[in-house]
Amino acid sequence: MHALIRHLLRAGSPQGAVTARGWVRTRRDARGFSFLELNDGSCFASLQVVVDEGTPGSECLPDLTTGASAEVEGELVASPAKGQSWELRATRIALIGHAGPDYPLQKKGHSLEFLREIAHLRPRSNLFGAVFRTRSRLAHAVHRFFQERDFVHVHTPIITTSDCEGAGEMFRVTTLKGDLDANPAADFFGKPAYLTVSGQLEAETFACGLSRVYTFGPTFRAEDSNTSRHAAEFWMIEPEMAFCDLAGDMALAEEFIKALALAMREECADELGFFERFVDKEVRRRLDFVIERPFQRVPYAEALQILLGSGREFAYPVEHGRNLQSEHERYLTEEHFKAPVTVFDYPRAIKPFYMRVNDDQETVAAMDVLVPGIGEVIGGSQREERLDQLEQNLARQGLRPADYWWYVDLRRFGSVPHAGFGLGFERVLMFLTGVGNIRDVIPFARTPGSAEF
Ligand code: 4AD
Ligand code: MG
Repeated sequence: MHALIRHLLRAGSPQGAVTARGWVRTRRDARGFSFLELNDGSCFASLQVVVDEGTPGSECLPDLTTGASAEVEGELVASPAKGQSWELRATRIALIGHAGPDYPLQKKGHSLEFLREIAHLRPRSNLFGAVFRTRSRLAHAVHRFFQERDFVHVHTPIITTSDCEGAGEMFRVTTLKGDLDANPAADFFGKPAYLTVSGQLEAETFACGLSRVYTFGPTFRAEDSNTSRHAAEFWMIEPEMAFCDLAGDMALAEEFIKALALAMREECADELGFFERFVDKEVRRRLDFVIERPFQRVPYAEALQILLGSGREFAYPVEHGRNLQSEHERYLTEEHFKAPVTVFDYPRAIKPFYMRVNDDQETVAAMDVLVPGIGEVIGGSQREERLDQLEQNLARQGLRPADYWWYVDLRRFGSVPHAGFGLGFERVLMFLTGVGNIRDVIPFARTPGSAEF
């Protein structure tokens, strides 16, 4: 609607008839006329419509209740009312679709939990309109960021037969009935297949040919963790660069996060204002924090010393050889460094087979990018490009080189140092909007026990 008004204003004087369509937010009847608040989700603002008694079609007014859809023809005029520049004086009005009194989205504020139960209607609420306009613009900003830097977009497969992360959290895809393991060769692909947990291995093959590539697609993890930051289906952006080491990888990751925060501030200003007012007072401060402060880089071992020396009681123990938990990550970025933080050189034992082993043989060239409010938004690494070392890594993790023959081949023919990372799109949206639960930044959340819509 606002988009419509903008368009009309740009075209010059808003003379002549315009047609507006949308859903009724409210209707107020006064003596001799009615006000309708019509919203079409193209922006925050609703359009105020003034319908005089006797306007053609006005006999449908009693049916224009909250949630009904309507079409109004009229003239856009400067509005005498506060808080809006324009209103529409109706010359004809029509009901498009009824909404009964049981329409669940009434004017009063609803809890996020309630809105999740009506996920098919929540796009009509202010909050979800704002979240999903933001999501759309940020998706565009992701492509722009990589396209401007000559990265090639690769659509990696959703069905795969290899476990990239080696964590065994894969959803099986099968056409078999009954005992799935009795004869896997009889399955559709002739062997067990799964929904991908990451497009990385495939992206690496393209980077080792096109140099700089990125993927942007859905990934699936059958982790049984019902937290506010884990989804079973989420979108990941995975750039991969040939002729690149860990330092180059960290530099790109940090630049990327800053670019997204800047895009949020500049291209979603109305939405940001709304999030700041109604969702999280601190959201803009955290954005500025990430845009303005240089990233701090710290090796895992040093991060551990900081945590151990913090005097803090953490719910999860801080121990060498364990993954950092989000409370640890948040302490590092929010309290210790007071800056966004990149932790690197993690213990080899807690990381997947593809990461490049450092000279100490104990750590790998891995990195995680941490931001306030969330913790890890990016995980990445330099990849093991040495054939013998990669084969050793596979063996160490109980994986068969034969199952990864094509991946191993990259190390046999013109192997090059290369590196990349994965950014969880929903995690970064949580950071940018201040929305505290991953279920509320994805159109239809898939979490354990829940895939209704
Ligand atoms: O750290 P992860 O597991 O790394 C990878 O998958 C690598 N293959 C990436 C690469 O190097 N190309 O996942 C990357 C990011 C995490 O930092 C997090 O933001 C997000 O994906 N993520 C999830 N987001 C939502 N729900 C989940 N269950 C997630 N698991 C990971
Ligand atoms: Mg990770």
